[in-house]
Formats: sequence, structure tokens, C-alpha cells
Amino acid sequence: MTIIKNANDEAICEAATYLREGRVVAFPTETVYGLGADAFNPEAIETIFVAKGRPRDNPLIVHVQDLDEIDELVTAWPQGAKQVAEAFWPGPLTLIFPASPKVPREITAGLSTVAIRMPSHPVARKLLKEAGIPVAAPSANRSGRPSPTKASHVWEDMEGRIPYILDGGETDVGLESTVLDMTVWPPLILRPGAVTAEMLEKRGVPVAMDPGLQPGEVPKSPGQKYRHYAPKAPVAVAMSLEEAQTLLATHPDGALLASRKWIQELSPAKCYPLSEHSDVKTSAAHLFDGLRTLDREDVSLIVVQGFVKEEMGVAYMNRLLKAAGREGKKQ
Ligand code: TXA
Ligand code: MG
Repeated sequence: MTIIKNANDEAICEAATYLREGRVVAFPTETVYGLGADAFNPEAIETIFVAKGRPRDNPLIVHVQDLDEIDELVTAWPQGAKQVAEAFWPGPLTLIFPASPKVPREITAGLSTVAIRMPSHPVARKLLKEAGIPVAAPSANRSGRPSPTKASHVWEDMEGRIPYILDGGETDVGLESTVLDMTVWPPLILRPGAVTAEMLEKRGVPVAMDPGLQPGEVPKSPGQKYRHYAPKAPVAVAMSLEEAQTLLATHPDGALLASRKWIQELSPAKCYPLSEHSDVKTSAAHLFDGLRTLDREDVSLIVVQGFVKEEMGVAYMNRLLKAAGREGKKQ
């Protein structure tokens, strides 16, 4: 049975007890919902892999509430890591550190490194504080589904598979955190997210993009190599209103996932508004809900508004092109 509760103080305390007892809890973060378990309890971590149907060679992110918790998880703070943590934590950024031998191999998948994130969502912070332990948490979707940005998405994928869901409403960012490998210099972006290369460079940290993020290349981050979610219908990316119009002209039953302005201009058969005025941040926040929603409809094509690949547009296009089946090695 799965309990779902509004994330008030009482429910957060109850969920923290579940975590301490070695059970898994789905909880909101500012990026997407996570499926958490005690990072030092291998049996609890095992239940995450089973609930998600996740491949064992895909390591997990450890969530902390406080910088002091990191010392027992790592062997060192690499060059620049303190500076980046101070500038962007708590927030939508995951850092890769050299792992302490104390970190269970169920988390690292046998790598010598460990991924750590300090989330900023107040529910996540209170839950971590009450639990008093570092919490391993992947996104709370079944493997191969889009990351959940609402508690109802977690329910759709996980009902009957996990004991507890904390409902904290819709997440803010809507795309998973930036993953930044601090064990190399310059640090390498393994997964683009809301903390962008431009933001890191503005803080004096030079960064490079993992060349494996390019189509056809093998990414460094294990999770990036899996085929990601793609809806049943083919997905086409339109960079302009005219392009969207041309695509929909050949598919009269086609669906449009775009700004309200595009939807008003083109009156498609089915639609989902991503934003009012083509704002990339708002569109990113709604992308996964939009794809889940239109995937329930019977359509021959889903046309999605594209954005230029700069700042938040990099992360948005990374997820969108994966959904369109154009990026990420098939596995
Ligand atoms: O926003 C997020 O990061 C969410 C919330 C819940 O915090 N979590 C999330 O976790 O997206 P997950 O497991 O869905 O994605 C973690 C990514 C995967 O691509 C994984 O391969 C990568 O981080 N990763 C984890 N540990 C790593 C490591 N030691 N080296 C390289 N990549 C790692
Ligand atoms: Mg995930």
C-alpha cells in the first residue's frame, strides 16, 4: 500500500521516521521528485533499484542538508569544489567527489566517485534535517519514464511499489540537477541543468561540457547512456512558429506543446501550453508534465517548441532531443 500525504510538518516527521527505519520515501525537491533511502543502508538502497526497475550500474546521488555531512562521504574536496558549493548550494547542482570507502557500492555502482547534492526545496531540507542521515535519491519515476514534477506523476509510476509519498506540489525547476564532475580540471558538466555553464563561469569556475553529450558519443555519466523516455508518438522539434505550422499541416491530428501564443495562432487538434510568452524557464518547468499529458492522447505526432541552446536552453534541449529519440545511446 502507498500512503500519500500533504507535506506538512507532521507528515515530514513521519516520512523521516520511515527513512531512518530503512524504508523509501518519495519527496519533492526544487528540480524533480526524488525516491529517497538511508545512504548507509544497502538493503534500503536495494529497494530503490527494485521500485524503479533501475539498472544496477547506474549510481545514485546522495542528498545532504549540511556541509558537515560531506566529510564522511568523500576522501577530499577537489580544487574549486568548496567555492562552487558555497556559490550554488543549496540548489539544483550535483557535484562529483572522490568517494570515501565508507560509501556503499550500491550507491557508487562500483565507481571511485560519489555524487552529492544539497537541495534547496524547504520540504527536502526539513526531511533531511529530521532524518539526520544522508539520503540517496534518484528521480522518483519508473526507469524509462520522465522524471516526476508532481506528486501525481510519482503516484502514476510508483503506487503499490513504495510505502510513502510526500506531496509538496509542483516542482520549480522541472528538470534534473546539473551534474558537475569536480574530480577533473576544468570541471566537466556531465548533465546540463538549471545551474548553467554561464553561471559557473561568471563565478570564476571554468567548465567544459562532456563531449559524450553530443549525439552518437558515449557519455561519461552512466545514467546519460540509457535510452531516456520517449512518448509513443514521434516527437518533432520546431524552432519557429512557421516550422510548427508546416509540421502540423501534414498531421491534422497532431499535438502541439508550445507557448499559448503558438497554440492560439495554430489551433492544433490537441495541445498543452508550456508558457505564456515563450519563456525557456517556464517551458522547462512544464516539459515533463506536457509530455506525460500528451502521451495519453492518440496522436500521430507531437510537435514541441525548441529553444536556442544557451543558458537554460541547453538543459531543455538536452531532455527534449532525448524524448525525440535523437540523443542518448540506445540500450
Ligand atoms: O535533480 C536531481 O538530480 C534529482 C533529484 C531527486 O535530486 N535526482 C536525479 O537522480 O536526477 P537520477 O538518479 O535520476 O540521476 C542521477 C544522475 C545519473 O545520470 C547518474 O548516472 C549520475 O547522476 N551519477 C550519479 N553518480 C555519479 C558518479 N559518481 N559519476 C558520474 N555520474 C553519476
Ligand atoms: Mg532519473
